[in-house]
Amino acid sequence: MYNSKIVGVGRYVPKRVVTNFDLEKMMDTSDTWIRERTGIVERHFADVENGETTSFMGAEAAKQALKMAGMQAGDIDFIVFATLSPEYFFPGSGCAIQVHLGIPGIGALDIRNQCTGFIYALSTADQFIKTGMYKNILVVGAEVQSTGIDLSTAGRDVAVLFGDGAGAVVLTATEEKDKGVIASRLHADGNFMDSLAVENPGSGTRPFVNKEMIDNRSIYPKMNGRYVFKHAVTRFPEVILETLAAAGHSLNEVDLVIPHQANERITEAVQMRLELPREKVFRNIHKYGNTTAASIPIALSEAVEQGLVKDGSLVCFAAFGSGFTWGASLVRW
Ligand code: ACO
Repeated sequence: MYNSKIVGVGRYVPKRVVTNFDLEKMMDTSDTWIRERTGIVERHFADVENGETTSFMGAEAAKQALKMAGMQAGDIDFIVFATLSPEYFFPGSGCAIQVHLGIPGIGALDIRNQCTGFIYALSTADQFIKTGMYKNILVVGAEVQSTGIDLSTAGRDVAVLFGDGAGAVVLTATEEKDKGVIASRLHADGNFMDSLAVENPGSGTRPFVNKEMIDNRSIYPKMNGRYVFKHAVTRFPEVILETLAAAGHSLNEVDLVIPHQANERITEAVQMRLELPREKVFRNIHKYGNTTAASIPIALSEAVEQGLVKDGSLVCFAAFGSGFTWGASLVRW
């Protein structure tokens, strides 16, 4: 039985920075409203017209992760790509990233678990490594949210939250005990699927995309913000404690919690409920907004760079999002 050790991590965010003041020019909102309710100051928007797509950004993050791992793209045996915003309806971005990295032929799996995407992807990759099926797996979380949100006043409750970016990790099999991913717990409850969703286009209508969907704005995300908030602040602490218990560790042994960067107020509430000191809960939402499946690997990459995660650190990733889905992973660095 092998463990999956994270040996490389990288991130990529588009050059274009969009501040709250820039959003004020597009819709009826204010920097004060956004900062107070979400903690977001700016986010990045991809230049998709010039090729800054989900898989391109994922590949750039992957190149950094490979460099840190001291590996070539050709050393990767399998790809797990988490995104809710692939550049094609199908095939997935896991196939597309192979072209950027020059590694066709290996298996590639797309994970569609929204804000919990990276946890699902990491845990899935971990299972393939544990069984001995693969040695080196590239796990990517990447999103282009900016092309899919309603940047008019009608969509302001959701649009101000999201940003674009990518993060990636390289996992490798190790026989070292208590190293790498030591436990993960995954959950979903489809009863809440309409509380945060993009309804169209979808296969439930014929044809699956039409003008009416554009006119009635059902192609944009809709969210019951208060409901999401209420569930998130319960599920985050619950799944963190569940995962720690599964691994036989306690909360005070954890060096750093890296939560999905959903919203500063959610992160704040989770920190308070767990009675953790502020410095033990990583945040960077002020710079990037909510980058969905990319937010944890982007945050991890920054935490490593800042020396907050080092050899022997016990790190807990946790996420909650559309589905509803939620999960956590405990990692010994
Ligand atoms: N700018 C200015 N005013 C706005 C904006 C905006 N961008 N969006 C909404 N408003 C207005 C509303 O129209 C409303 O006006 P009204 O009182 O005249 O009707 C007023 O602000 C208050 O709206 P609420 O929706 O009640 O605002 P609330 O205080 O609940 O904050 C928010 C909204 C920030 C979305 C909050 O519900 C929240 O944090 N929810 C959690 C959702 C979340 O973070 N999702 C992230 C994605 S999911 C995930 O990653 C877990």
